[in-house]
This record gives sequence, C-alpha cells and structure tokens, in this order.
Amino acid sequence: MAKNIQVQLASRPTGPVEESNFKIVETDMPKPGPGEVLVKNLWLSLDPYMRGRMNAVKSYSKYVEIGEVMVGGTVGQVVESNNPKFKTGDHVVGALGWQLYGLSNGDGLSTVDPKLVSLSAYLGVCGMPGATAWVGLLEHCAPKAGETVLVSAASGAVGGVVGQLAKLQGCRAVGIAGGAKKCDFAVKELGFDACVDYKAGKLIDDLKAACPNGVDNYFENVGGEVMDAAFRVLNPFSRVALCGMISDYNATEAYGTKMIRSLLVNRVKLQGFIVFDRQDLYFRAVLQLAKWVSQGKIKYHETVAEGLHNAPKAFMGLLKGQNLGKQLVKLF
Ligand SMILES: NC(=O)c1ccc[n+]([C@@H]2O[C@H](COP(=O)([O-])OP(=O)(O)OC[C@H]3O[C@@H](n4cnc5c(N)ncnc54)[C@H](OP(=O)(O)O)[C@@H]3O)[C@@H](O)[C@H]2O)c1
Repeated sequence: MAKNIQVQLASRPTGPVEESNFKIVETDMPKPGPGEVLVKNLWLSLDPYMRGRMNAVKSYSKYVEIGEVMVGGTVGQVVESNNPKFKTGDHVVGALGWQLYGLSNGDGLSTVDPKLVSLSAYLGVCGMPGATAWVGLLEHCAPKAGETVLVSAASGAVGGVVGQLAKLQGCRAVGIAGGAKKCDFAVKELGFDACVDYKAGKLIDDLKAACPNGVDNYFENVGGEVMDAAFRVLNPFSRVALCGMISDYNATEAYGTKMIRSLLVNRVKLQGFIVFDRQDLYFRAVLQLAKWVSQGKIKYHETVAEGLHNAPKAFMGLLKGQNLGKQLVKLF
C-alpha cells in the first residue's frame, strides 16, 4: 500500500536551525473524508517565516507543535476528491506542508493554470512572495515615477519582484544583496538600476553612490545593520514597507536598531504588514503578476532542492543566504 512521507518538527532550535530539529517520517496514505480532497504535492515552498513557526512564541500565526508536519506552501495535483469544487487531475496551490500527500477541505486551496506559468511559479513570483512585493510596494509605499525605490534581499523571492515592479512604475530601482553574484543577477537579469553588496564593507558610502537623490521608498526584508544603513539615506517624507527582518530570525538576541531617529527627523511613514491581511489585493496581484510573467515583463529565478529529504538542508541554506531567487523543493 502506498505510503506518505512527512517532515515533522522534532525539536525547537536555539539559534541556527539544525537538521536534528526535523524528523522524516513514513505514515499511512491519508484518506479523504466527506468534503475533502487528497493532493499529491509536486512542489514545496521554503520561506523565511517558517523559522518563526519553529519557536513556541506568540506571533501573527500559530506555531508548529513538536511532532506536527512543518507548515509550508505547496502546489500539486488532486488525486481523489470528495469536494465538488475540485476534480481529480486539477492543479492546486495551498498550504499542505512538508509532505508528499496532504488532505484539504478546500479552505485555502485554489486551482491554478499550468499553461499560463509553470506550476512552481505559483509558489514564488506568482504566489505569496510576489503578492507580498505587490502589497508592500504598490499599496504601502505607493511610489511615484521618478522616485528611488531601495529594497534589501534584492535577489530573493520577494525582493526580485519589488525591484521589477519599481521599474514598471517608472522608478529608479536599487537593491541590497549579499555578494557580487547576487548583485549582478539583480542588475543584469532583473533590470535593477544598481545593487549594493552589503558584504563589501562600505554599505553607507555605496548606498549614497547608488542613490544620488536619496531614497523615497524603502522595502525592508532584512533588518539589523542593513536597515540602519538604509535609514541613513531616507529622504524627507519617504515611505518604508516593513516586510521582514530575516537577520534576526536565527538570532538568540534581537539586534538593537540604532537609526529610529531618522524616521522622526525625516517624517517617514513606516508600515509593517503581513500579506495575508490583504486578501482584497492578493488574487488581483497574483493574476497580474502571472500575466506579466507570461508576457516576459517580470523575470524570476528558482533554486531547487531535489526530494523532500533535502528540505531541511535547503531551509537551513535559505536562512544563510545560499539561495538565489525563490527556494523550492521538487517533491516528485
Ligand atoms: N510580511 C509578509 O507578509 C512577508 C511575506 C513573505 C516574506 N516576508 C519576508 O520577506 C523577506 C524575504 O523573504 P523571501 O521569501 O524573499 O526570502 P529570500 O530573499 O528569497 O531569501 C532570504 C534571503 O535573505 C537574505 N538573508 C539571510 N540572512 C540574512 C542576514 N543575516 N542578513 C541579511 N540578509 C540575510 C539572503 O540574501 P542575501 O544573500 O542577499 O543576504 C537570503 O537569500 C523575509 O524577511 C521574509 O520573512 C514577509
């Protein structure tokens, strides 16, 4: 009889994630009950937020219990359906977690068209990260043509889309990324005007050179010293979309931000946001992004780990910046 394979949370990390925090388990194949569908997950998304779900702390979403399947976005194919909204063979995107097969009652599950863009793109550029870029930049910063948009983690799943949306708005797009390879990718492949390597050791000077007119919109993915440096080049009345603070996720002690005063003296508007609060924009964003991707107006790159057993290692790599573009796991 066919079996399912799951990656469960085995223990909570203190500091950096280790492989021993996960347990790979063979379980019985789930059977769909009334109203449920059984989905064969073809792709698993690995995302920085998962690090937060490994800690037993209060956040905007419930953490994973020890012994539970790790949470995660998935795209797959319906193999058995007791739900009239889905039929066998449908391709669906949802959040069925780090496992080969998952059950759903249909909540949070949507059909997707594999002919419009590739299935994996629904987890990245045309999925949650793409919608995040859209909401943070277009809704919270609302940049005007001619302004400068700065984004950290610029070669990543969210940041790469932010820069390209900025260009489509007629802005100067400047990235911050770790290393020459990632910066080259942002400029040469994604069309950023400039990208600053924060590992090169002169971040503030390099930011000033890359943003000669200062920064009108800052999309923050990273936090820590990078954020402090970016706060030093903000213009009066600029906007900051506070999307993520990945430099803190593995830390045992939070970095003490030093440049808050810049927000005051520059009368900056800063908005922290979580993409799922904006269901009103989510599907509009995803549909528009899919259209632009299919027309070649938005580009993307994927880093793919092969097989569910490689998910823990790939996730640890993501938190160390080893991915370029969207980090995925190919399950079959
Ligand atoms: N608010 C929301 O609704 C929402 C939704 C999705 C994602 N997010 C947040 O958006 C951010 C980007 O997510 P993503 O999926 O696009 O990830 P990603 O950029 O594809 O991958 C993470 C990148 O973060 C950078 N990074 C890792 N550790 C770092 C450190 N200590 N200091 C500086 N940079 C570090 C690395 O790039 P470098 O090598 O360039 O440093 C790494 O490649 C994360 O903070 C995530 O939590 C928020």
